[in-house]
Amino acid sequence: MNNQSPIGIFDSGIGGLTVLKSLMQKMPKETYIYFGDTAHVPYGNKSKEVVIKYSLKICNFLVAKKVKLIIVACNTSSSLAITILKTKLSIPIIDVINPMKFYIQSNKHLNKIGIIGTHNTISSNAYNQVILSVNDKITIYSTACPLFVPIIEEGLENHEIAYIMVKKYLEPLIRQNIQILILGCTHYPIIKNTIMKTIPNNIYIIDSAENTANYVLNYLQKNDMLAETIIKELVCYVSDESRHFEQFAKEYLQLPNLRLKTIQI
Ligand code: DGL
Repeated sequence: MNNQSPIGIFDSGIGGLTVLKSLMQKMPKETYIYFGDTAHVPYGNKSKEVVIKYSLKICNFLVAKKVKLIIVACNTSSSLAITILKTKLSIPIIDVINPMKFYIQSNKHLNKIGIIGTHNTISSNAYNQVILSVNDKITIYSTACPLFVPIIEEGLENHEIAYIMVKKYLEPLIRQNIQILILGCTHYPIIKNTIMKTIPNNIYIIDSAENTANYVLNYLQKNDMLAETIIKELVCYVSDESRHFEQFAKEYLQLPNLRLKTIQI
């Protein structure tokens, strides 16, 4: 392994592509290997043991591909599996929840925050721990939005059904006069337009992608791990065939020649 080795990144499905896009914009010289666990999506309502089992299998697959670093581009896996992953693996692992610390640190005026995520992420309280460790004066209102991931995986994020669900899930949070809404699931930036059209425009929406990309860049710089020459290759693996994944990834990343490989883990 050296600085030119690829960065591994995974999620249960297409959600992690929102993080990958930010990484590719911020660090265009890096090579990336993406894994979408399309055979097992969604992770959000599976047991902790199962999420850990799948996450470990994917990480071992990425380690075998000789990645220099793994980014857990899934909030559910970041909240349930990160401790085990860090103990079992000998390469650096970065999750998508901790980098939120820096956003909270630099926004001292915040006192009412809304968080949405999967059932697992919300009930783990992982975001609450990170946020309150920086500022314990903040009041956090959170709610699980379990139907968002299936809606997004089906490509229905702009359909009427998405508006109905956004309204249903977000109304209680809006009533609390939150200042910002954290999209605590890497799939949710894909439904952001529908959310923006539904909630008052004074609520600022933030997601895991940009904070994580900043954090990764800083980490690679500090540890002298940045790639120097452009190879700019991306290989995407999925654990089961998914037409929507391929079409979405090509359009979203603007890579019409993207290679998609199916591999069972
Ligand atoms: N994108 C994921 C997350 O950030 C996974 C959602 C799911 O599979 O339920 O939580």
